[in-house]
Amino acid sequence: MKFIIDFANIEEIKKLYAYYPVDGVTTNPSILAKEGRNPYETLKKIREFIGEKGELHVQVISADAEGMIQEAHRIQQELGATTYVKIPVSREGLKAIKALATEGGNITATAIYTQMQAYLAGKAGAHYAAPYVNRIDNLGADGVKVAKEIHDIFKNNNLKTEVLAASFKNSQQVLELVKYGVGAATISPDVIEGLIKLDSVTCAVAAFTKDFEGLCGAGKSMLDC
Ligand code: E4P
Repeated sequence: MKFIIDFANIEEIKKLYAYYPVDGVTTNPSILAKEGRNPYETLKKIREFIGEKGELHVQVISADAEGMIQEAHRIQQELGATTYVKIPVSREGLKAIKALATEGGNITATAIYTQMQAYLAGKAGAHYAAPYVNRIDNLGADGVKVAKEIHDIFKNNNLKTEVLAASFKNSQQVLELVKYGVGAATISPDVIEGLIKLDSVTCAVAAFTKDFEGLCGAGKSMLDC
């Protein structure tokens, strides 16, 4: 499963890249708004850092297909032809996905709450479909189940589209989809840090260190013996 950062702050992205095996960055308009500057300025810094091979996903704002297509062209012109353009799966969004797919650009279908939205986006030519796991949970449905079923729908219909599961709020939601082998997950920094924040690990390592220091002296490591 690809592991993508759902955030736009460059310092935070650099920090997460140093510690975690990540494959790219996704943004949405709300995430970009938090940075408080021209979105292309923020996005160019991210592209410069992650390089052409790192996945960068950027969302359009227009409500109509023609506007979405024009935005997609501008996004790929500014940030590189490999940039994934995120298109919300509305009726207009499907029209835009269909048109952009014939041009060969990378498309991430987003704002997905139902299996049928994902199927139609995949059939229209999207490379990724992003179900909003926690937002679906908040509606009283089961976001993990929806994401798994979308994964199955793509396989059962021989579609190359992969799930890019999004909107996580806890480690359990992520783990369920790692176990299922969905294509990718995009995760906010706080949830990423929570994946490995375990008091038991800290306690175990502290006990090993205490025993070692009893043998070799305070502050000593395997370098000093
Ligand atoms: C991804 O496409 C979405 O923009 C994002 O993951 C939504 O996450 P949120 O529900 O935490 O805002």
